Amino acid sequence: MAVENYLVESPDWLALNEHHQEMAQCHLSDLFRQNPNRGTDLSLEVGDWYLDYSKNLITRRTLALLVKLAEALGLAGRIEQMFAGQRINITENRSVLHVALRASEDQEILVDGLNVVPAVHQVLSQMRAFSRRVRSGDWFGITGKPIRRVVNIGIGGSDLGPAMAYEALKSFSDRRLTVNFVSNIDSTHLAEVLRVADPEETLFVVCSKTFTTQETLTNARSARAWLVDALGSVGAVKHHFVAVSTNAEEVTKFGIDTANMFGFWDWVGGRYSYESAVGLALMVAIGPERFDELLEGSRLMDVHFRTAPLERNMPVLMGLIGLWYNNFFNAESIAVLPYSQALGRFPAYLQQLDMESNGKSVDLKGRAIDDYQTGPIVWGEPGTNGQHAFYQLIHQGTTMIPCDFIGFAQATDPLGEHHDLLMSNFFAQPEAMAFGKSEVEVRADGVKEAQVEHRIMHGYHTTNSLLARKLTPSSLGQLVALYEHKVFVQGAIWNINSFDQWGVELGKVLAKRIVPELTSEELPDLGHDSSTNALISRYRKLKA
Ligand code: F6P
Repeated sequence: MAVENYLVESPDWLALNEHHQEMAQCHLSDLFRQNPNRGTDLSLEVGDWYLDYSKNLITRRTLALLVKLAEALGLAGRIEQMFAGQRINITENRSVLHVALRASEDQEILVDGLNVVPAVHQVLSQMRAFSRRVRSGDWFGITGKPIRRVVNIGIGGSDLGPAMAYEALKSFSDRRLTVNFVSNIDSTHLAEVLRVADPEETLFVVCSKTFTTQETLTNARSARAWLVDALGSVGAVKHHFVAVSTNAEEVTKFGIDTANMFGFWDWVGGRYSYESAVGLALMVAIGPERFDELLEGSRLMDVHFRTAPLERNMPVLMGLIGLWYNNFFNAESIAVLPYSQALGRFPAYLQQLDMESNGKSVDLKGRAIDDYQTGPIVWGEPGTNGQHAFYQLIHQGTTMIPCDFIGFAQATDPLGEHHDLLMSNFFAQPEAMAFGKSEVEVRADGVKEAQVEHRIMHGYHTTNSLLARKLTPSSLGQLVALYEHKVFVQGAIWNINSFDQWGVELGKVLAKRIVPELTSEELPDLGHDSSTNALISRYRKLKA
């Protein structure tokens, strides 16, 4: 039963507050000294992933209090509501069913009494057939040449997910095909791709849930103009363009045959959509069998999330530990640090997943949230690059930044001793962050007196380490689902709607209003604030 009283006044929250006073004085070295088995006691294995959460400022009591809070707020029931297809996206009156995208064919998930799983598998079959044709050279451009380049045009959830997964799984891709992802309305993004593309062998996948997004439609129109100009026929469009969307009407208006449209549904949020038809370019690259392994990986994590007890549930634990720092230590950001070049786009992908989901300041009852933090700032870069850039601030800055380290036992591209060297850093950094270097140790190194203070590292910096054997479609599916569900857990506790994104609308509306003010012959009356007026006037002068 969910408690009625407001979050920060609930007895469980108050108990955590009190417990925090005690834990804030605690050092990770003490916790490890008190329990020599802590490193394995606070660990959990799910599928391919081993989570070591021992280097966190937590004790068994912390976890018990956090789990009690989650229980009191009815977390298990909230999880069940999502899996059961209830309309938990209340501001848009929609179900939230990315889990249905990876449901097995015999599962039944009802939305308004209708089982959505057959439709999911019907689209997957359509995607498989299409991918096989492109991969085997059986999909021809208008001049009869097979496709050699696939360009996904989309933005946000229609770009970040498939782009991240393509980079991650490139080693499983058909290298005869080049796959590009164009998102930015800055013409350089598209121009750089078109510069090297052969129109006769290029296929565009216009990917947009709404098919009204300014960036995507502008890029798609420019790509269409380039193609028609190069091949001398409007008829080329149907051979070189396919669409991924929920909006058949707009797809038709654009000139793409709906026979070449891959659909999905309003119950798939953009940032949760890379395993829907939004993953079409990815499937073309890695093939349907590998795509199926990705889905299986996600399903494994879904089953775990739905069935494991809260205290042994990986997304729940990661969500609660994150919340512990966010709400009780006031940590404002988290760093996600993959020790994998192939996961280079993972932090960017997570930024949308987490920040668009939980960047909210109104709760489900419409009350302003002004007494607790919600979604953290998410950032990161692959290791070891970040070590030579921003880790200094994590080690010795004044801000608390909990970090997630992600690594693999086997290299994606084995080469000499690269991987052991990479992973030595993966193990060394959390160790340095947790235990630091004491004054005694610094002095023992014979450091000059004037430098002693500067060289001390207090430790205290908390980390999760996620380790798997290898980056594969399945382990990637598990990893992404882990973070999807972690975000769900936090949103549920904060009592916010993690599935809408009204905040991005205002900027879009204002930009639309400004377009004519930039393009008109005469300077119109600019009715903005004095700063925006001056900037627009200067832009007009400079561009002339
Ligand atoms: O502007 C934000 C957003 O609505 C995201 O939520 C979404 O992923 C992205 O734009 C792209 O939307 P669409 O797939 O409809 O083009």
